[in-house]
Amino acid sequence: MLKTISAREAASYINDGDVLAFSGFTASGAPKVVTEALAERARAEHESGKPFKIGIFTGASTSEHLDGVLSLADAIDFRTPYQSNANMRSSINAQKIQYFDMHLSHLAQELRYGFYKKIDVAVIEAADVSENGEILLTAGVGIIPTAAMIAKKIIIELNRFTPETVRGLHDIYIPLDPPNRREIPVYKPSDRCGDAVLKVDPDKIIGIVETNLPDGLSPFTPADEITETIGANVADFLASQLRENKIPSSFLPIQSGVGNIANAVLGSLGANRYIPPFEMYTEVIQDSVIGLMRTGNIKFASGCSLSLSDDMMTEVYADFNSFRDKFVLRPQEISNNPEIARRLGLITINTALEADIFGNINSTHVLGTKMMNGIGGSGDFARNAYISIFTCPSVAKGGKISAIVPMVSHLDHSEHSVKVLITEQGIADLRGKSPVQRAQTIIENCVHPDYKQLLWDYLKLGGKQHTPHTLSACFDMHREFMNSGDMRKTDFSRL
Ligand code: COA
Repeated sequence: MLKTISAREAASYINDGDVLAFSGFTASGAPKVVTEALAERARAEHESGKPFKIGIFTGASTSEHLDGVLSLADAIDFRTPYQSNANMRSSINAQKIQYFDMHLSHLAQELRYGFYKKIDVAVIEAADVSENGEILLTAGVGIIPTAAMIAKKIIIELNRFTPETVRGLHDIYIPLDPPNRREIPVYKPSDRCGDAVLKVDPDKIIGIVETNLPDGLSPFTPADEITETIGANVADFLASQLRENKIPSSFLPIQSGVGNIANAVLGSLGANRYIPPFEMYTEVIQDSVIGLMRTGNIKFASGCSLSLSDDMMTEVYADFNSFRDKFVLRPQEISNNPEIARRLGLITINTALEADIFGNINSTHVLGTKMMNGIGGSGDFARNAYISIFTCPSVAKGGKISAIVPMVSHLDHSEHSVKVLITEQGIADLRGKSPVQRAQTIIENCVHPDYKQLLWDYLKLGGKQHTPHTLSACFDMHREFMNSGDMRKTDFSRL
């Protein structure tokens, strides 16, 4: 018989040095109260002079209830993968938390392969749980199917905010591992190949903690002129590809990254009259997708989470019957699967922090040293896309930083995974171009006017080489920013 316990009691089963795995993906579906109790426990242990730190595996970023409170309580030893919490980011950059960044589709399989520490406890947010261990998940799946299978113990957070009517939203499938793996039978975004519920060994369940809490996501800030223009440029580019028959007339599924640019891009795709209604095979389903489903622009969305603002989530849950056949949520190993991305021919659109004139992308490290969030699913999708597009504003920090530099200060996606770069300045189609031709196209079409001459000067310095770099000067713009606070003061003409 499954028993109900308090969050405090649940936290008392977790020991210093334990490794935990959490359900969910973004704040959606991530546990909310056991983690708060755990942070309290860690603080109490620290106050009495005892050590208390845990290792953490999640699907992706979580929320203030998890990454926020546990990092503030100094209760985390190691953490992977993607995160985006400000406290956690500072602890990672101060080396208080050992963080290793990885492709999101890799984590579950590598946990099964035994590459990492064993999981002691999996904490799972559920909309329902039965005595025989069938768990109806909530708004995010992440790595939890694998984590629940290999964890020694399980704690359930039964969150009444998610109605049981969401049964059928999930498709839980774990592939066999090599040498026995077969193809994953997903041939179109709406295909299902697994179970509607997660099945776990009920003997592993320590107890059930009851909650009734929304995920706590806020709506996006309305698109500004820059993000609107980037979105319109992406839509124009894709419409041109349709006209030139480089994309089939029925269009292809879209993968779109996270954040404000991604939201603006989707809005522009919906508003572009040449782009037919499309499907999504993506990671995170954001508010803009719901709007575009209502207008008929998006026909179906496969993802790993419904990362909707609280108000939008309430609306969708209240009207779930209208959405029932429009979504499926999968484990990230499947939502981000390279085999499926290649098979479906995804058009992938992700955001760069920094790009270089030869088409390499840095998605993660500010000035090559400070971790921002992590690579997330961008690599899973970009490397395996039909067309891989990266977007970014051409400048950051009021123009003092050019997002396009001679050489990226950290490499996440190499020139081989980047087919098109788009900023508010324009579009650089890099396909079929040599390094120097790529540099000319990027400088001409994507760089902010304040930095164009500077980057032409840099390119000239390299002379006649296949990739005309000048190793003694390739980080001069970064160095200038660190010295004077403004990349515009860089002077390549002195060399
Ligand atoms: N150098 C230094 N700082 C830079 C910069 C650069 N080249 N470009 C941007 N920044 C700063 C911005 O000024 C901003 O700083 P602030 O928070 O102090 O204002 C910050 O970085 C983030 O920029 P923002 O415009 O808010 O970015 P975003 O919300 O669009 O996110 C990424 C951009 C790259 C951080 C985000 O998309 C990401 O984490 N990507 C990697 C994972 C991914 O692609 N996931 C999707 C796969 S499905």
